[in-house]
Amino acid sequence: MSSVPTIYDLPDGWRLATFHTLDGTNAEMKRFVVDGRDHAEGLIMRSDEQTAGRGRLGRTWVSPRGNVYASFLIAAPEAAIAPQIGFVAVVSVIDALGQIAELPLRCKWPNDVLLNGKKVCGILPELVSDAAGQQWLVLGIGINLQPVNVAEAAYPVTSLADHGVAASADTVVRILAQDLAHRLRQWREEGFATISKAWMAAGPALDEVIAVRMPGAADTRRGRFRGLDEQGALVLEADGQTHRIFAGEVLFQSPPEARAGVA
Ligand code: BTN
Repeated sequence: MSSVPTIYDLPDGWRLATFHTLDGTNAEMKRFVVDGRDHAEGLIMRSDEQTAGRGRLGRTWVSPRGNVYASFLIAAPEAAIAPQIGFVAVVSVIDALGQIAELPLRCKWPNDVLLNGKKVCGILPELVSDAAGQQWLVLGIGINLQPVNVAEAAYPVTSLADHGVAASADTVVRILAQDLAHRLRQWREEGFATISKAWMAAGPALDEVIAVRMPGAADTRRGRFRGLDEQGALVLEADGQTHRIFAGEVLFQSPPEARAGVA
């Protein structure tokens, strides 16, 4: 196994709080903000394990020791563009994991990172307001470093260890913090286009046929992937029409061929 030494600082002004156990890092970060404790952009909470980790679509995020469970506090932008931060996060995770090892990473709309066609990272962005009425985005990120034993996973999962890569959660979070700070700066200075381009470089191929399950709906919609719009909605061409999908889940297909990393 290759391994990465721990030599990474945090970006200027960022702070990392590490816990042995929490119900969830998103839950703790939200309590911290709501309680008016000392919070600012760049506050990170990481826990060795979570007893009540949460995923998207009301799912549980199984959180034994050994993986990355972290939440990053970001000053929320106006509501219309807040979903863009999920894509900033995906691109940052791909940057960070790509720095650790050469890995066949791709992204799956909206905010999953796949390793060799299986889920290695999930992202849960949640909004919270502090007592002064300022809105914050709590960016929860889970990355599987160790093989995950989920009896009835809703999707195929994998880990860095499954691919012969060893890295500590602390190291991964520090590398990720640097990449996230960089991509956030880029997003604020250049807008969503640069992030969207980087996401697309590791996302489905344009015109690829994909299937999307809408939240709460039994049916799925199949169509050709036509890209992301400026809000991060999935643009799908189906039945001769262009659909913009804001919420849902792209279904797993047979493991796609790995594409090169992000631009
Ligand atoms: C998904 O369903 O894909 C999103 C998973 C997000 C998991 C992370 S782990 C850290 C943070 N705390 C939580 O309870 N969930 C997120």
